[in-house]
Amino acid sequence: MSRDDRAQNSSFRYRDGVLHAEAVDLSGLAARFGTPLYVYSRTAIEQAYAGFARALSDTPHLICYAVKANGNLAVLQTLARLGAGFDIVSRGELERVLRAGGDPQRIVFSGVGKSADEIQRALQVGIRCFNVESAAELERINTLAMAMQTRAPVALRINPEIQAQTHPHIHTGHATSKFGIHAVIAEQVVRRALELPGVRFIGLACHIGSQITDLAPYAEAWRCVVTLADRYAALGARLEHVDFGGGIGIRYRDEIIPSMAKFVATARDALGERRLQLLIEPGRALVGAAGILLTRVEYLKTTPHAKLLVTDAGMTELLRPSLYDAWHEVREVAPGTDAAIYDVVGPVCESADVLARARRLAVQAGDLLAIMDCGAYAASMGSNYNSRPRPAEVLVDGTHTALVRRRETLADLMSLDELPA
Ligand code: LLP
Repeated sequence: MSRDDRAQNSSFRYRDGVLHAEAVDLSGLAARFGTPLYVYSRTAIEQAYAGFARALSDTPHLICYAVKANGNLAVLQTLARLGAGFDIVSRGELERVLRAGGDPQRIVFSGVGKSADEIQRALQVGIRCFNVESAAELERINTLAMAMQTRAPVALRINPEIQAQTHPHIHTGHATSKFGIHAVIAEQVVRRALELPGVRFIGLACHIGSQITDLAPYAEAWRCVVTLADRYAALGARLEHVDFGGGIGIRYRDEIIPSMAKFVATARDALGERRLQLLIEPGRALVGAAGILLTRVEYLKTTPHAKLLVTDAGMTELLRPSLYDAWHEVREVAPGTDAAIYDVVGPVCESADVLARARRLAVQAGDLLAIMDCGAYAASMGSNYNSRPRPAEVLVDGTHTALVRRRETLADLMSLDELPA
């Protein structure tokens, strides 16, 4: 697909030479809300969800959106209204889902470090399932549930020891990872789960990594999980579901992404005739392409080695290029005529604060750029480093724009500090 085909394929396209989010002119949004600004397309989120739901229509399933990708309440509400479930990893994410109208019965709780407070709150609201990541966590959940005179629904997250081809920071299913219970030692945890009075062992889960573009590691991991499900059923487990995790990639540059249909066919293949509900936990694939980061060029700077565009957004708004060497497309909102090759750098005082290297762009100081595919892991990984207020976030739906998070003020930045008496 060429760059232009791609532009015409998403919710972000040029109309009369200006990039739009759905029917809304991005330069108008910058004038109204300022920059940097995150802009999300509700239609794009709805379409991505519908793609998964359609592909899964013949299989009993639950799509549990991974909240860590983007926890904005309006994003969560959009998905809750479509009937989505949620994969959470903290009390903060739990409270966000509840506030956005998410159904507690559709929440699965992942993460290796669930605190007592987090477990109690999840038991109190009645979540669907804890994805248990260690023997010690199982014991803690059991104790807390018994004290509350309830039984906690648990799945064991299996580490199938699969090497997915992705950036080393974001694959999680390999042998030395901290995640999940290694398949080879899971049986003793299962036996314990079956005898503990405070837990109900209802499922197996796995999640092997993120931005995965190849189905082979999935097939291998999922086969491992269902094989274990059979074995544990023989030990007396009454499993209700398997959770095949998230991680399906999106096209940032030229990656070839397997179709939703193939992804689902691979899952169904692994599942075979087993009567287990299928849970999946996509994050990026639901929201990644549904957002952009709008930024203004503050300066053109020429060094003996390169031409730089210094933008008002940097690693505080989009950490992925600094942290993973990730590539995000950069587009001019209103392309000019004089193109040159630029590095796009942020204002943060770190050498790693580079958003993109060697891009051909036709811009001048004061012009706007759109950093594409910033719906996932952009705002949610943002920080206040260098005392930079977090940007506003807007949600576009057709011709309508809603401010869904206001820009932080300088007062917000200092509001939690105290001067000692
Ligand atoms: N389920 C679990 C248990 C996870 O840990 C994750 C992501 C997901 C689901 C959703 O994965 P997704 O479908 O979004 O790939 N910050 C990195 C990605 C880290 C992903 C962490 N876990 C990035 O910006 O690429």
